Parts: sequence; C-alpha cells; structure tokens
Amino acid sequence: MSVRHFRNLLDMTPAELEAIISRASKLRQMQQCGEIYRPFVGRTLGMIFEKSSTRTRISFEAGMGQFGGHAIFLSPKDTQLGRGEPIEDSAKVISSMVDIIMIRTFEHDKLDLFCKHSSVPVINALTDDFHPCQLLADMQTFHEHRGSIKGKTVTWVGDGNNMCASYILAAHQFGFQLRVTAPYGFEPNPKLIEEYSHCVTYVEDPQEAAKGAHLITTDVWASMGQESEQMTRARRFAPYQVSPAMLDKADPDVLFMHCLPAHRGEEISFDLLNDPRSVVWDEAENRLHAQKALMEFLLKDKINLSS
Ligand code: CP
Ligand code: NVA
Repeated sequence: MSVRHFRNLLDMTPAELEAIISRASKLRQMQQCGEIYRPFVGRTLGMIFEKSSTRTRISFEAGMGQFGGHAIFLSPKDTQLGRGEPIEDSAKVISSMVDIIMIRTFEHDKLDLFCKHSSVPVINALTDDFHPCQLLADMQTFHEHRGSIKGKTVTWVGDGNNMCASYILAAHQFGFQLRVTAPYGFEPNPKLIEEYSHCVTYVEDPQEAAKGAHLITTDVWASMGQESEQMTRARRFAPYQVSPAMLDKADPDVLFMHCLPAHRGEEISFDLLNDPRSVVWDEAENRLHAQKALMEFLLKDKINLSS
C-alpha cells in the first residue's frame, strides 16, 4: 500500500478531514481532563525545520510527548541537509529510522520530492505554497465555537500567500464560500482562484468583503523569506488592516482568526486580539490537538486507538 502524506488539504477526503477535526476536539477534552493516552510509545517523529517556528515546533513536539512518543528536531544548520546532501538520500535515510516526519521548508517542490522518497508519512508543516496544519486547527476552532462551517462565508484579508491558498483549498473541502481581498499584485495564484471559482471570489474593497462574513482571517504582510519587502508591503497593505470596526460590518456572530505571529499596528489593529470575537488563542492551542489527531490518523495502522 502506498504511504499517505499530508502535503495539502487535498490529500484527505472531506470526510477524513471532518473526522480529524472532530477527533482533535475529543483529544483536546482528554488532554484537558488529564487523561493519559499513549498510543505512540516507541514511535518517533522527525521534525525538519528550515524556517523559524514557535507554535508548530512546540505543538508537534509536545503532542508526540503526550502520545508517549519521541520527537527529533532537525535543522539544516546541524544536519547534512544544510551541507547539500540530496533530498532523495535524506528522505530515504531519515524515513528508515523514524515513523513519521514533518517538514517546514521554502519550496513546495522540495516537500514533494521528499515525500516521493520517504517510506513513512510526511506532513507539510508550512511551505511557501501551503500551511495545511494551520487549517486543521482553524476548522476545529470554528467548529468548537460555532458548529459546522458548511455554507458559511469566510473572508480572507491581506496577502494571497500560503495561508490564503490553504483557505482556498479549505473552502472546497469543507464547503464554505471564501472571499479574498488583497492589494493589486498580491492576490493568490490566479490558477487557484479559477480552479476553485465555485467557492472563491475576489472582492476588491476590504470593507465590502467583510460584510456579513462569519469568519474573518488574515496573516502577516511579509511572510518568512520576504523580510526585505517589508517596507513596500507595509505601504501597499495599509488599507487591509483588520480592526474591530471591520468586524462590526460582518455577521453579528463573526469570529476572527490569525495563524500568528501577529503584528499589532500592521495587519491587525492594536486592540483586535482583545476583542471578544477574536479566538486566536484557542486557534493556536488547537494546533496541538489537531496535529495529534492528524498523526494518529496517519499512523492508525501501527497503533492501538482509544475510543
Ligand atoms: N502559525 C504558525 O505556524 O506559527 P509558527 O510559525 O510559530 O510555527
Ligand atoms: N505566511 C506566514 C505564516 C507563518 C505561520 C509565513 O509563511 O511566514
């Protein structure tokens, strides 16, 4: 049987994604009750990080520990990956020693190549193109606060980046309507907008895009690797700052999410994270539970599941 990877949200069926987020909520409850559940004793997660991280590293490492397994942090600085050992060779060797791997890197093609040569499941922990783990946590968080997201309206404000592309795939897989509002020249890949036109629309005016939305979400103006563009981007993105006033235009039950880290005074106003409609701290915590559910799903044939 071929190995299942999680490169983007299309690697799972909608039913599998729903099952993972519902399991994530159950795992959250179990963790909060102090229930010990160790299906991964003797299992190892390899974590390859070519970019910085707070949430992703901690959630994967803590999650693996809570499951009774072990995680190894691998950075290009301290491994042969940083000295040019081919991806194909690295994938073969690393996957021969661990049970599951997560990768945070730049080019999505690099992740695809690694997957091709890995004998164990590989999880995309962010590439320049997609951040699917964050979407699992976001969908779990919406569900926990408001129930099903099917048929709802979600507004993406800001850069058409890896998070925006992940929201486009989520709209297709979870059945919501996505409005994208981004400055000219920073829209998501037009091919994605075209392919998913049944569930995605581009709206020029950010205030108009917010009207009636059930979820408003944004991200930094300059992603990792784009630091030199920060000044130019700050000028172009200024009208796209999300504030409580923007949320006032949305549905009365609107939620606000941000994958974090957030820059107050840039993509969000200084007061936004204190607004009761913001659920960013739950969203961040849910990275832990969602990824535990994801790893359990990917390794289900190797472990004893609890009910
Ligand atoms: N949201 C997110 O992926 O955060 P980190 O970059 O801290 O992992
Ligand atoms: N778009 C951001 C997400 C960080 C979690 C980046 O790629 O840097």
